[in-house]
Amino acid sequence: MKTIVEVKNLLKRFPIGTGFFTALKNVDLAFTEGEFAGFVGPSGSGKTTLLNIIGSLDVPSEGEVVVLGKSVGTLTPKEAAQLRKEKLGFIFQNYNLLPVYTVFENVEFPLLLLNMSADERKQRVLETLEWVGLKEKVNSRPSQLSGGECQRVAIARAMVKRPSLVLADEPTANLDAANSHNILQTMEKLNKELKTTFIFATHDEKVIGYLRRIIRLEDGKVVEDQATPNP
Ligand SMILES: Nc1ncnc2c1ncn2[C@@H]1O[C@H](COP(=O)(O)OP(=O)(O)OP(=O)(O)O)[C@@H](O)[C@H]1O
Ligand SMILES: [Mg+2]
Repeated sequence: MKTIVEVKNLLKRFPIGTGFFTALKNVDLAFTEGEFAGFVGPSGSGKTTLLNIIGSLDVPSEGEVVVLGKSVGTLTPKEAAQLRKEKLGFIFQNYNLLPVYTVFENVEFPLLLLNMSADERKQRVLETLEWVGLKEKVNSRPSQLSGGECQRVAIARAMVKRPSLVLADEPTANLDAANSHNILQTMEKLNKELKTTFIFATHDEKVIGYLRRIIRLEDGKVVEDQATPNP
């Protein structure tokens, strides 16, 4: 199995006031292609910080994080942006959809940064919206959708370029139980069919129930890393 993320002796410090706060320490982890894994643990334990560094949105203070062969701490901002736009998909708690754009345009957006013809883009967007069960809403705007539908648009937007790795930070935080299960099943299906690797940050028990690997963080350290008996 191909290793797609390696975290080596990672330490992350944030400047606060005149000192520093250490948000992550001694973190050593590796992820292989096709995993459906998540960081769990109390608020403030470092889940988002770790996900952001893996997503090249932030850099290590010490140690190394290698994502798809690239050491994120050594990338220029332009190289990091390139890695994100070509290989990574992000799903956030607040969907982050563009309100004035339609569902189609929101999902098409990441493809505009890549070299693709309008026809190819259209085909890709419609295929992806079909996967998440939203093909009939292509012309709706986010304000006309339910929370669960908005999050499915966000999943489609993350998946449309067929990323190797999707990072999802509390993706169910604004959803009710039925919608949470629905989007989790959608992500699980994409993981199985496309072999896309998913890494979550969550405290939602519903999400945890779907994970095949649970990495527990406490005070910025990994205290448990377990494969689960999930199918
Ligand atoms: N930019 C920053 N500057 C200073 N401290 C920060 C910064 N970002 C995060 N922290 C601190 O690092 C710690 C870990 O934060 P992080 O957001 O990773 O936690 P989390 O596990 O995602 O929590 P939650 O479950 O509430 O989302 C927290 O104590 C937080 O206050
Ligand atoms: Mg968080």
